[in-house]
Amino acid sequence: MAADDPGEGLEAPPRSKPSAPDWAKLRQAADSAASRAYAPYSGLHVGAAGLCENGHVVTGTNVENASYGLTTCAEASLVSALVASGCRRLIAVSVTAGDGRPLSPCGACRQRLMEHGGAELLVDGGPDASPQRLEALLPGAFAAADIAKRGKGSSARPAGEPGRTGAGRTGDSRTGAGRTGAGRTGDNHTGDSHTGAGRTGDSHTGAGGTGGCR
Ligand code: THU
Repeated sequence: MAADDPGEGLEAPPRSKPSAPDWAKLRQAADSAASRAYAPYSGLHVGAAGLCENGHVVTGTNVENASYGLTTCAEASLVSALVASGCRRLIAVSVTAGDGRPLSPCGACRQRLMEHGGAELLVDGGPDASPQRLEALLPGAFAAADIAKRGKGSSARPAGEPGRTGAGRTGDSRTGAGRTGAGRTGDNHTGDSHTGAGRTGDSHTGAGGTGGCR
């Protein structure tokens, strides 16, 4: 398949950053992901859909386990799919239980989303409410800066902290003129094709795959 051919039945990815998240579409992608959840214990089928800074949509579902404690939340699956797709940074996320209504991300998942979207990440408020910035849902979040200000940790710039300068990385800032990620050639990821759980035929092979947005 050609590098820019998204494959049969898949929509070609947008070539530039969308001006505003299409919340209805994102919610629909979350609902669709929820329909593939593995949740035989709770019965709560959760789907998460995230808009990547390059315009791609990645999804994840919850995956439960008989041990209960090994359960993976939909948002955690989403983050795995995001990184495996070659993207690192989210700009908007919708989490539903398959009913088109937003499900409140658990505390641990707020922290996960913070890592990959930062304080400005927009979290779906549903059809009747405005989206919220993640910082409103996780005030005072622990972040890489809390490690750095004690002189510890790596100098690499985390995905969720566009303001920090890191080890030779450029262009990750969401607001800066130097952003990369939109309109990259060779990207064949689109819509539901990135899933964090239960999908077969996923052609993405970890962070070294083609066409990422880092
Ligand atoms: N769950 C999620 O997937 N995300 C959340 O943010 C909250 C909870 C899942 C985990 C478990 O499979 C089920 O919902 C019930 O807790």
